[in-house]
Amino acid sequence: IHESHFLNSLSSLSVDAETLQKQIDELSSFSDSPAPSVTRILYSEKDVLSRRTGSEPELAPVSTGSHTDAIPYSGKYDGVVGVLGAIEAINVLKRSSFKPKRSLDVIMFTSEEPTRFGIGCLGSRLLARSKELAQQLEKTVDGQNVSFFDAAKSAGYMNVEKLSTVFLVKGSYSAFVELHIEQGPILEEEATSIGIVTAIAAPASIKVDFEGTGGHAGAVLMPKRNDAGLAAAELALAVEKHVLESGSIDTVGTVGILELHPGAINSIPSKSHLEIDTRDIDEERRNSVIDKIYESALNISKRRGVKLSEYKIVNQDPPALSDELIIKAAESASQELKLTYKKMISRAYHDSLFMGRVSPMGMIFIPCYKGYSHKPEEFATIDHIADGVKVLALTLAKLSLS
Ligand code: GLV
Ligand code: MN
Ligand code: MN
Ligand code: MN
Repeated sequence: IHESHFLNSLSSLSVDAETLQKQIDELSSFSDSPAPSVTRILYSEKDVLSRRTGSEPELAPVSTGSHTDAIPYSGKYDGVVGVLGAIEAINVLKRSSFKPKRSLDVIMFTSEEPTRFGIGCLGSRLLARSKELAQQLEKTVDGQNVSFFDAAKSAGYMNVEKLSTVFLVKGSYSAFVELHIEQGPILEEEATSIGIVTAIAAPASIKVDFEGTGGHAGAVLMPKRNDAGLAAAELALAVEKHVLESGSIDTVGTVGILELHPGAINSIPSKSHLEIDTRDIDEERRNSVIDKIYESALNISKRRGVKLSEYKIVNQDPPALSDELIIKAAESASQELKLTYKKMISRAYHDSLFMGRVSPMGMIFIPCYKGYSHKPEEFATIDHIADGVKVLALTLAKLSLS
């Protein structure tokens, strides 16, 4: 009686929007770059499960959450809305005196962003039993040569060497739902309140190093050069070409990191380093772009007489589909709350991509200003956030009873 009464009295869901906005602003001040930008790299000084026990705590819980680490010169909503919003969603349910049957867990994932250790979604990949990553992290260091283990210890984590202890057994959670800003323009443009994610596009990233002989920018004549910088520039353009050749608007590629050594105006670059991000909703098409990038790297190195000293595919993940029951729950939650919604694809990746390997997964999007993300102009109104929290709360409530 209690449960159905709750689901019927939805008008009483009250979001404490003011507190939530304060928490978002407060968390944004934990930053290594000046406001309004946010820089919060994993385990840096500025970067740390709560549970609402259900009436049948022996059942697999429903979980929700996201990340709070932020890439350099980012905004304050990416991930944060899904962590603080999850906590507020649980508070919403408490205030409505809803008693969940399955327990509700909030997860704040470690390092969704790849900034510090070069690969994204460290926490969720490990929860999703990535043995490969657990092994790789044993020898991973950051740009300052600090090992992953030392970084984790200095942030207060214990027993970090036993990474496999965090592997989740399939079925540990009956559902995982993540609230996130859209990071794209569609919801705002169409004045739709809620996006219900049906699939997450397949991300991949590649590291490439070229080595030439360098030399004096005045004294070495053009025919004698093997310029590692130009090899990198040429490969960056090849990435764009191969992506466009796919013929689909859904194929994207970015060279977000391009470093030259020694980095002096009067020295021919003797080493270059690129990091390439490419994604698609179609995994095969994305893989064919990766193959072409490799061919181009080989050709460029031959033609320019530079050594391709590293070509490393850091991650090449498949896409993920949302769970039908979670989609339905979020749809009926939106309808009951009288909020407009649309089903959509997530082009950004999220911890949900990996949670989907060990649990049914779903995502709820809210509009953000002009679709801006990964830059300081990122913004979502507190009303949109509050709507997202309501849909999350009601979706969790439904899932906790099923
Ligand atoms: C994660 O932030 C992504 O790049 O999609
Ligand atoms: Mn991000
Ligand atoms: Mn994010
Ligand atoms: Mn992301």
